[in-house]
Amino acid sequence: MLELNTSNCTPFLPEDWLTSRLDALESARVKLEEGSGLGGAYTGWVHLPRDYDKEEFARIQAAAERIRSDSQALVVIGIGGSYLGARAVVELLHSPNFNLTHKGGPDIYFAGNGLSSDAMLEVIELVKDKDFSINVISKSGTTTEPAVAFRIFKALLEEKYGKEGARRRIYATTDAHKGALKGLADAEGYEEFVVPDAVGGRYSVLTAVGLLPIACAGVDIAALMEGAAQAMEALAAPGADNPAWQYAAARHALYTQGKKVEILVGYEPSFRFFGEWWKQLFGETEGKDGKALFPASVEFTADLHSMGQYIQQGERLMLETVVRFARSRGSVTIPHDPDNVDGLNFLAGKDLSFVAEQAMRGTLLAHVDGGVPNLVVTAPARDAQSVGWLIYFFEYACGLSGYLLEINPFDQPGVEAYKNNMYALLGKPGYEDRKAELEARL
Ligand code: PA5
Repeated sequence: MLELNTSNCTPFLPEDWLTSRLDALESARVKLEEGSGLGGAYTGWVHLPRDYDKEEFARIQAAAERIRSDSQALVVIGIGGSYLGARAVVELLHSPNFNLTHKGGPDIYFAGNGLSSDAMLEVIELVKDKDFSINVISKSGTTTEPAVAFRIFKALLEEKYGKEGARRRIYATTDAHKGALKGLADAEGYEEFVVPDAVGGRYSVLTAVGLLPIACAGVDIAALMEGAAQAMEALAAPGADNPAWQYAAARHALYTQGKKVEILVGYEPSFRFFGEWWKQLFGETEGKDGKALFPASVEFTADLHSMGQYIQQGERLMLETVVRFARSRGSVTIPHDPDNVDGLNFLAGKDLSFVAEQAMRGTLLAHVDGGVPNLVVTAPARDAQSVGWLIYFFEYACGLSGYLLEINPFDQPGVEAYKNNMYALLGKPGYEDRKAELEARL
């Protein structure tokens, strides 16, 4: 279903780049399979495409149908792992211009993913005169950004529909047992969906966290899960032919040889937020104990006219992982111009996707010649099944990669540092001493 081409990476690597890692990969595979490695309690995503809660899945589909029929807008409130996956899939399978181009169903707005007053005011302005619903997503139920946003949009909804009317338009995705959002959802009687205990935020796109907003966008979530299930089955097979093993081994080998940055390259504007999701997945999984490739992303060909210079000739610290879709959805033919003032008649009659393909091939070789190893992942099409495959491929390869690096792939202790400082500076009870200490430094 998905192909990985390592041929423009292997010239940069010693001959045994894969064979020397097969034992470590087998050990990583067992840790993921059995949940027996560091952070093993958070490997619930490994079998999720097969073991997901089918009753809840049907409720997600029913809720999405309801939202699609009674709402002109849906406000999806969440941050990090409770945000990026949904946005990535909605944009990749539809468009970054979703709200201008979708047919049927609600406009989708993302909120609570930052603390910008201006961004908040913009979404309020865009939804206040529409029939809207809210999907608030927070596993912990206590994250400041979504909690503040939810307070604001809940008040707006209650003002518009009354408490009872608002109650029927709020969908809460959170922990099954604990947290402030869980308490509120129980008390108010919102429809609830669960973030499973064993699935951390960045691995949660195929739970209700991602699936409800994605279904509201009209995506076939059964096909998405089917693609992920196929990937799960294919990638569980141990061995040197396994593309997730190859990807994890290649990036680990390049890292040990001194590469510091991995750039995810997409050629579709709709791929941009998939890059954001991927950056969180790898950055939060691997970036600890002073280790790991820094995950970056670019959109070609646009960024070839900006970042392309650095990639070609700047410090030789990066590798590229290109994700391409074998087929475009539509076709655009370049017209013939009798005057040919722009000299482009050599392209007349050609499809734009042919031009894009040659740009991709030329860029790949130029970058390889410039000392940038390239890995190429090819998905058959920009459809739900392929994207399900792609999501699982990166999740699985990321889990393997974390164990190759000998870190805990499933915690994120570094995220707490800014939160504690912010709480102290905001005057949260219990942080008084820290507040004084921080204020003195600022
Ligand atoms: O991956 C993670 O754990 C984080 O990005 C979280 O998803 C993010 O901080 C949001 O957390 P929560 O869902 O608890 O609000």
